[in-house]
Amino acid sequence: MASLKFDRSRAVPMRGDGQGQPASKTGRLVIVSNRVADLSKGNLAGGLAVAVGEALKSSGGLWFGWSGARSAEAHSKGPNIQTFGNVSTATVDLTEKEFEDYYLGFSNRCLWPLFHYRLDLAELHTTGQATYFEVNKRFAAEVAPLIQTDDTIWVHDYHLIPFAAHLRQKQVTNRIGFFLHIPFPAPELFSALPHHRDFAKTFFAYDLVGFQTVRDRENFARYAEEYLNCRRLNDGRLRGFGRTLRIEAFPIGIDAESFAAEAEKNARAPELRALAREVESERLIVGVDRLDYSKGLPERVRAMGSLLEKWPNYIGKVQLLQIAPPTREGVQAYDEIRSELERITGEVNGRYGDFVWSPVRYVNRPVPRAMLAGLFRRSRVGLVTPLRDGMNLVAKEYVAAQDPADPGVLVLSQFAGAAEQMEEALMVNPHDPAETATAIRRALEMPLGERRARHKALWNQIVSESVGWWRERFLAVLHETNGQPATPGGPSTRNALRSEAVPHEQSSDPTAR
Ligand code: ADP
Ligand code: G6P
Repeated sequence: MASLKFDRSRAVPMRGDGQGQPASKTGRLVIVSNRVADLSKGNLAGGLAVAVGEALKSSGGLWFGWSGARSAEAHSKGPNIQTFGNVSTATVDLTEKEFEDYYLGFSNRCLWPLFHYRLDLAELHTTGQATYFEVNKRFAAEVAPLIQTDDTIWVHDYHLIPFAAHLRQKQVTNRIGFFLHIPFPAPELFSALPHHRDFAKTFFAYDLVGFQTVRDRENFARYAEEYLNCRRLNDGRLRGFGRTLRIEAFPIGIDAESFAAEAEKNARAPELRALAREVESERLIVGVDRLDYSKGLPERVRAMGSLLEKWPNYIGKVQLLQIAPPTREGVQAYDEIRSELERITGEVNGRYGDFVWSPVRYVNRPVPRAMLAGLFRRSRVGLVTPLRDGMNLVAKEYVAAQDPADPGVLVLSQFAGAAEQMEEALMVNPHDPAETATAIRRALEMPLGERRARHKALWNQIVSESVGWWRERFLAVLHETNGQPATPGGPSTRNALRSEAVPHEQSSDPTAR
């Protein structure tokens, strides 16, 4: 088995300059993702929207996906096309049923928890799987007429895994790449999904499938070998369903320099000055996450309790400012995590707080990115402790925002994809509040020299492996994979997929036939 560390020496040389210039001048970039950010606003929440928004702005092209709206006429309206400089967006509505079954249902009640190792929360028998395939099919039909022959198509995330299989049925032969923003679980977990083989073989309609980490790539490869009878070639590619599929790890990054500039500009914003009057910067601990059970928020607040219990000298002095806007409301597991977080926050604040101070301040709404950047810069500790995360961009943003002369310290979960790259953070097991508390204390007390040395190493890492680097590497590899020959003596690649790759809920397992 390959090493589970991200190996920089295997990084593919870039065709562009890594600073935002396009990898290829041969055609447009067409991005397909469930969420399409409103490019007229600067306030994008969620790792995908932030990274894709930044990538597309520098290369230009088309971004297709859900409008965020639900309407009864969703199927008859056609895409709403808007242009913002060099980027056009084409968005379509969902019907109520599609919203319920495709988005909340199969995507977020089943795939999200399953891929985040939460088999206990995954509603495996959801009826949403059929609607999930139907929405993928409809999206493919809506985007097909907008595609030009030399476009490169890049599909994103777990909502749209079978998208390329449907697009191939529309005779689209362009290069199509897929990037999974969330983890790919251990094969033993993935195989708990009903019809998992039908589902997984749709990955083979892509030319390239990208993962956040080497661990995710290897999980997928092991699944494909053990459950789909695919063969791993010496160069790491997978042979199956008449195709040779390239799979790679492409850890997603941020535009560190522009985030740093934003942080410097906003560190003295009036809103933050008021906060500074209450808590000194050296005593401020910050957490910023969507209110998702994968983020380890109750465990984080428990760690604050553990810190104060073990080292009472911090009582009245330190504060965790946790920003956690609601997300995916209507899914029971999200309602439950919110109640649990509020209960534990109340408990810790009740036990240690007084009239003028509380150890945890919890803000349940989105905050403008500029403000977040300033807040990160003013906080001595960045607490990023997910139980499982594809990458976690907040970890990188926190580092980018620091003042190099007097930087804060990142406390990072070993289960964030970012841990594969950010070895100089203080690494913790988020399931162990005592261990996290010890790391928080170490961060609060860390001498300036050590803080600077750790920050410098992390800064160099996030600058060299930026969002531009991620995009260029992905597109360079995708361009290399174009036009792979059909299987010798076998059906052509496209035909093999046309004839069998689009399963539906009732289909039987093709590999068992
Ligand atoms: P995920 O993709 O699971 O949401 P990430 O940490 O990878 O997690 O990405 C989250 C992105 O959304 C980051 O860019 C972060 O700055 C942004 N974000 C998170 N919370 C908020 C918030 N409260 N307000 C604005 N932006 C937020
Ligand atoms: C994560 C996922 C994205 C998703 C985002 C926000 O970053 O990887 O695909 O868009 O969370 O979640 P939402 O359900 O609001 O789109």
